[in-house]
Amino acid sequence: MADISGPLGLYVHVPFCSGKCGYCDFTSFPGQGHAVFRYLEALKAEARLVNPGRDPETLYVGGGTPSELSAGEIAQLFAALHVSFPAAKFIETTFEVNPESVNEEKLGVLRLAGVTRLSLGLQALDDDVLKAVGRRHTARDSLRAFAAARKAGGWSISLDIICGLPGQSRDGFLEGLARVLELGPDHLSIYGLDLHDGTPLARSGYAADEDLGRDMLEAAMDRVEAAGLAHYEISNFARPGHESRHNLNYWKGGEYIGLGCAAASYLDGVRSRNVADLETYFDCLRQGKRPLAESERLSGVEKSGEAAMLGLRLVRGFEPSPDVARQFDSKIRGLIERSLLRREQGKLQLTREGIFLANQVFMEFVPPFEESNI
Ligand SMILES: C[S@@+](CC[C@H](N)C(=O)[O-])C[C@H]1O[C@@H](n2cnc3c(N)ncnc32)[C@H](O)[C@@H]1O
Ligand code: SF4
Repeated sequence: MADISGPLGLYVHVPFCSGKCGYCDFTSFPGQGHAVFRYLEALKAEARLVNPGRDPETLYVGGGTPSELSAGEIAQLFAALHVSFPAAKFIETTFEVNPESVNEEKLGVLRLAGVTRLSLGLQALDDDVLKAVGRRHTARDSLRAFAAARKAGGWSISLDIICGLPGQSRDGFLEGLARVLELGPDHLSIYGLDLHDGTPLARSGYAADEDLGRDMLEAAMDRVEAAGLAHYEISNFARPGHESRHNLNYWKGGEYIGLGCAAASYLDGVRSRNVADLETYFDCLRQGKRPLAESERLSGVEKSGEAAMLGLRLVRGFEPSPDVARQFDSKIRGLIERSLLRREQGKLQLTREGIFLANQVFMEFVPPFEESNI
């Protein structure tokens, strides 16, 4: 359900990377740096075709690897966004950076462009693990990137790490986490490894040890909270006031526009996704068409299920609407009996066990639904 009282988010996808990591399923095109100028022009053309009727208030530039752009290209990207949304006053602007491509010059441009939040993808601080998944930086590069980011400005810094990577032992992961916490990030995302079909890692036959993964995540949660970062979303922790406002808007069912290859939008009750292929994206915009691959109006029980799944991602939970409460009454009661959900002051939230088994919980809120709910 669209929360139009919340801020409108603007997401811009930058699909360029210095290589392809073994686990990655995001839309990204290594070795296509020559297409950046055309891409920036296409983003402007796409923005002209989207009419949200109000100004976006949060901006998130993600990827791919936005820091793969040169300093000049980053300045052009922000100039293009300024032309496209001249009256927008962003309350939060996030930019994703990678250790191998961020430098002082780019950080300087980001400060001038009004970036308030940097998201730095470390993934691990163990060079053997980084190498095993095809990352193109070392732990030293990561530490250098973090120090440069801290020195460059008073922005909020978020770090990403992954748990369950090949070659990662429990002790190795927790030792890396301790070093990450020593850096003093304002925000930390810890993702359990998702093995996506078709990625080099999945094709290699690597199988994550689920019990070990859970054990690592459980130990990590306690350490991160003890370091003063509160657990506010399944995978996210923040110092007070450093939660991602852009992402909170997603989880609260707010509206957002996505520009760029494979970007998703949710506007006026319609959920849509752009084409992922770069040339098809360019072709659509050359013809003056929105580059949509799919678009659907959510309604009824499907809309309620989506609202429940998003709301449950928040550790504090969500207040189920009368529709959610009625349509999913028996499922909710079943999940409470299995100790995966609980009610807390009118809110429905995941239990600690439910946080680890969140995918099982979410399965109850996606189609096909029983006739009686519809
Ligand atoms: C948009 S992605 C990539 C950002 C950036 N290009 C990088 O590599 O650091 C954002 C985050 O998703 C996480 N991620 C990507 N693929 C994943 C996977 N298969 N399993 C778990 N986490 C993943 C990584 O932590 C990554 O930093
Ligand atoms: S994980 Fe990041 S750097 Fe690696 S391929 Fe995916 S988007 Fe690119």
